[in-house]
Amino acid sequence: MKKNFPEGFIWGTATAAHQVEGNNINSDFWLLERMPDTLFVEPSGDTIDHYHRYENDIALLAEMGFNSYRFSIEWARIEPEEGYFSDAAINHYRQMLEACHRHKLKPMVTFHHFTSPRWLIARGGWENEETAKKFAQYCAKVTSQLGDLIDRACTINEVNIPMVINRIHLAGLDMQELGFMQAAKPYLGMFPSDKLNTFMFTPSEKGRKVVLQAHKQAVAAIKSVRPDLPVGMTISMDDMQAVDGGEAVRDSFRHDIEDVYLQAARGDDFLGVQAYSRIRFGPEGKLAPEEGVEMTHMGVEFWPEALEATLRHASRIANVPMIVTENGVATSDDTRRVEYYRGALEGVLNCLVDGLDIHGYYAWSAFDNFEWMLGYEPKFGLVEINRANQERLVRQSGRWLGEIARTNCIDE
Ligand code: BGC
Repeated sequence: MKKNFPEGFIWGTATAAHQVEGNNINSDFWLLERMPDTLFVEPSGDTIDHYHRYENDIALLAEMGFNSYRFSIEWARIEPEEGYFSDAAINHYRQMLEACHRHKLKPMVTFHHFTSPRWLIARGGWENEETAKKFAQYCAKVTSQLGDLIDRACTINEVNIPMVINRIHLAGLDMQELGFMQAAKPYLGMFPSDKLNTFMFTPSEKGRKVVLQAHKQAVAAIKSVRPDLPVGMTISMDDMQAVDGGEAVRDSFRHDIEDVYLQAARGDDFLGVQAYSRIRFGPEGKLAPEEGVEMTHMGVEFWPEALEATLRHASRIANVPMIVTENGVATSDDTRRVEYYRGALEGVLNCLVDGLDIHGYYAWSAFDNFEWMLGYEPKFGLVEINRANQERLVRQSGRWLGEIARTNCIDE
């Protein structure tokens, strides 16, 4: 049976600059990836050279059937030194935006997707209150130059990721104590006693405040230039389930990691929901994955139902229009990717039937790319990349999802 999505539903794929562009040398991650004893399994390097190949890449996404493309603008390129804005870098993103319009893809732009300029980190990074102001200035600058071409804007990708990493994925690990973080400081002109407050690894209460302030000030800055541009932030969410009386523990984790941020999104034009899997909690804390459940290459459960559960939770708390800004699976079996997307989209349809205000869906990811600390091994792409020659090959899942995008309906 065919099921339709609402008219005008946004269908897109997403990427992030550092994961696809290549040679993002003025960013904090470039440095951390290259330190001896780094936790990154390999450096990003050229990645998939999207910086130079964007024209063909964008044309390909349009040809596949999508009507939008979410990508991020790299702060470390736009403002490689504090206060110096590169016209050439701004012009590059202008050309990317124009390419989207030429190919009838509505551009959704993310202003910050995990990476920051090195100079920002040297000045206290995401624990320095000044960072909120500097971020807003950068957003205002970009909006004044490129705002006419942007369809929707995300200020910060996964505002809550420092808490998710610290409380869930690297629980108990003090990043500040790690040798490679210490070793990076002299390259930034910092003293050994200084704290290295990169975006992803700054889980303090102070860091939380700075990030939320940065979002708020950025919204105001963007709106002061283009009042009609829809702006929101995105949140990393999991289907957090309670097992055997784990409700109180689950609720406390969820409050700290997600709800505080969902509350902060109230009043925004939209909220970007990003979900991949589930986490179960018992009375003693987080539980291991359930036996017998298939695992993905990210070491999490294959759990497409996560999207429906997180959309429902986000809508209960934030109560603003929502867009799925990321959802997908890392697997080398493309038929499983199709099954994952099918399950997730069924969840979106269930939510829509119940009246949830969902405006679009972005698959993560358009292309195989640099998966942060895990390097190039996990494959999220609807398009496979041969990094030896940078050849692009659309996977069957890409054709399948593109057809859903083109027809705005799914065959169940
Ligand atoms: C991030 C992406 C990342 C993806 C898969 C999200 O947390 O926004 O940058 O690649 O998840 O791990």
